[in-house]
Amino acid sequence: MDMPQPTLIDLKPDLASVEDAVLQGLAAQPKALPAWLFYDAEGSRLFEAICEQPEYYPTRTELAILREHGPDIAATLGEGCTLVELGSGSERKAKVLLRLLRAPDGYIGIDVSAAQLRSATAALARAFPGLPVAGICADFGDDGALPLAELAGDGPLVGFFPGSTIGNMDPGAATGFLAGWAERLAPGGMLVGVDLVKDKAVLDAAYNDAAGVTATFNRNMLVHVARRLDTDLDPDAFAHHAFFDPAASRVEMHLVARRAHTVRVGGHRFQFRAGESIHTESSHKYTVEGFQALARQAGFQPQRVWTDPRRWFSVHYLAAPAGA
Ligand code: AVI
Repeated sequence: MDMPQPTLIDLKPDLASVEDAVLQGLAAQPKALPAWLFYDAEGSRLFEAICEQPEYYPTRTELAILREHGPDIAATLGEGCTLVELGSGSERKAKVLLRLLRAPDGYIGIDVSAAQLRSATAALARAFPGLPVAGICADFGDDGALPLAELAGDGPLVGFFPGSTIGNMDPGAATGFLAGWAERLAPGGMLVGVDLVKDKAVLDAAYNDAAGVTATFNRNMLVHVARRLDTDLDPDAFAHHAFFDPAASRVEMHLVARRAHTVRVGGHRFQFRAGESIHTESSHKYTVEGFQALARQAGFQPQRVWTDPRRWFSVHYLAAPAGA
């Protein structure tokens, strides 16, 4: 029997230029590169491998929360909603959620990568025959219009933003981002996974796994950059460094120059002192109340929160009232 094909709409997201990002980031003081540079094909594979590391608790803890509180989550989201996943990279969590939901009306995945979107939506269409599945190739962080109403059923839209990806934005950016989605999703809501503040030793270990997968993931950003640009950048000249900063309530990842040297990118040269770092990622950790306050500022009404017994991770349902 032929399976119905997922509807795919390509909004042709304006992909930022690797060269512009690198020239700007290495000229900045302190040096910093944007976290999206992690995700070439190898970076995406390494991230999936991080999620399997014993020290990296967020993925398995969030999945355990979804399973443990499934019936309650399903009752909160109600019958007949269309699930809108922000960044449908791997369809694993959407599968778990869609199995729990009561008669969902459809699934819409949004991702900048057309290839990821194609494979995730095809897998979901196979797993849920009869469920309307669609994909929009777009940057879910952009504030442009999305054809959600055209693709959705009659029920409310419920955003799904798992994995604490919201933590990779600074709190100000996270508030602006949520405000945009509160408008798009009203009168529905959003289910969002948020990593919680905890013991520094646990957080330090989660970003410094013993197998060195996170270190390879971090350095792969430079492998990716070196492959894409005309440069003499040597990834082996940099060491992985990640730590929880309790004052900023965030884990910072850096690549630290092992020795003083100069890096050429095109016709530009950048000096590195020994020990000088490139900041590659921040991963903000919240308290439940702190995240709820941020969501309120964005126009959402925090309605429910589910956590694991150790309170290491949280899943929030934020209502998006119409006209808020
Ligand atoms: C994607 N994001 C939520 C991960 C995090 O924990 O901030 C990325 C990551 N970086 C290192 N390990 C995982």
